[in-house]
This record gives sequence, C-alpha cells and structure tokens, in this order.
Amino acid sequence: LGAGPLAGKRVIVTSGPTQEPIDPVRYISNHSSGAQGTAIARALAGLGAEVVFVTGPAQVAPPPGVEVVRITTAQQMLDAVQAALPADAAIFAAAVADWRVAEVAGSKMKKTEGALPTLSFAENPDILATISQMKKGRPALVVGFAAETDDVLANATAKRARKGCDWIVANDVSPGTGTFGGSENTVHIVREDGVEDWPRMGKQEVADRLARRIAEALHG
Ligand code: PMT
Repeated sequence: LGAGPLAGKRVIVTSGPTQEPIDPVRYISNHSSGAQGTAIARALAGLGAEVVFVTGPAQVAPPPGVEVVRITTAQQMLDAVQAALPADAAIFAAAVADWRVAEVAGSKMKKTEGALPTLSFAENPDILATISQMKKGRPALVVGFAAETDDVLANATAKRARKGCDWIVANDVSPGTGTFGGSENTVHIVREDGVEDWPRMGKQEVADRLARRIAEALHG
C-alpha cells in the first residue's frame, strides 16, 4: 500500500480539450493545454492517491504514476469516466466541448465555388452534471471547474448549483489572463457555504493546495 494522506483513495481527473470532428480532417476544439489538470493529477498522486487521468489531446505530457486514458470527444470522455467508477473523488478540469457537429461528414468536405458550408450542432453530454447527479455510487467529492469571461463568481456560483457538484474552482479565461495555456492561475473556490479567493499563483501550486483540501475533505 502507498503512503500519504490519499493512500487507498481512488480519484478521477479529467484534463485538456476535447476535439469534435467535422469531417475526417477537421474538428472543433478550444485552447486548453492540459496544464492545470495535469498539475492536479500530479499533486493527487503525490499524496498517494490512485489517479485515473482522462485526457483529451493536450500540449502537456501526463504526469508519472497515474493511469492515463486518452480520449478525443466529449462522449468518449464521459464513457471513460463512467468506466473508471467507482471512485472516492472526481475532479473535472477538462475543457469539454458543449456541442458537437450533428452530422459528421464521412469524407472530406469539398470547397464549392460560390457556396459556404453550414454546420448544425447537437448538445454533448455534460460529464460533470451526470456524475454529480448520480443516484447510486456517486463519488463522495465532486469538483468542477468554471471557465468564465464575465461575472466570474456569479456564473460559477450558479453553475455549482445547476450541475450539483460539491465545489467549483472558478477561473477567469478572458484574453490576456493567460489562464488557457499559461503557467499561472487565479482561482476562487466556490462551495455551498461560501467562496474562498486564492491569490494568483502557479498552476502546480493551485493543484497542490487543491489536493490538500481534497485530502482533508475525504477524511473529514
Ligand atoms: O488546460 P489549461 O491550459 O491549463 O487551462 C485550464 C482550464 C482553463 C481549461 C481549466 O482551469 C478550466 O477552467 N477547466 C474547465 C473548462 C470548462 O470547460 O469550463 P466550463 O465552465 O465550460 O465547464 C464547467 C465544468 O463542467 C467543468 O468542470 C467542465 O469540465 C465540465 N463540463 C463541461 C461541459 C461538458 N459537456 N461536460 C463537462 O463535464
């Protein structure tokens, strides 16, 4: 058995972007590098947790000492998270596409003189909400993130209630903050009983602090 305050605890961490195909060569995605999620997985493993790391196509390599599950789409991420259950905690740091292209073209879409393509979208499953609202076998602690560009705290507070998770880590992803892809983050921990504002710090320090909080919560 491993050592550390999270020894014997199984934790799922999602990280990175998802990619939603348009046709065999094109996709829709976002700017997540995977840095924040990777740092969280590293911190939890460092405290002795058994970590299942479900990651989209990220810029940053997964940390050592975790079980890595690589996925591409939101639907695949949901399937991988469900397959990794049961778990004591689940941390959702991935930037999941809210929509996918409704009808993925089977072959490369051709450029046609005088005509522009139109894409129709379908809603992706909400992984955080699905796991938060499980009637049976829900992880004891479910932590979501909120990536916001406006009214960060109000939106994150509403998001926590709507999705049904225990904590939301809110971060501002407006252009110029460097939250997407950078090495630092300014986060607010939103719980049912209030909000904690953390100063700007490196993503690994955010992760280390969060992992200690998670260890306390799983023992309290
Ligand atoms: O990867 P980096 O470059 O280090 O950047 C880090 C980050 C900005 C991606 C990260 O800190 C972050 O904020 N991750 C969440 C991004 C996001 O998709 O936020 P959201 O507010 O759209 O979603 C809210 C929560 O629901 C998130 O926990 C998300 O993982 C989850 N979600 C969203 C949609 C969906 N279909 N399924 C989900 O589980």
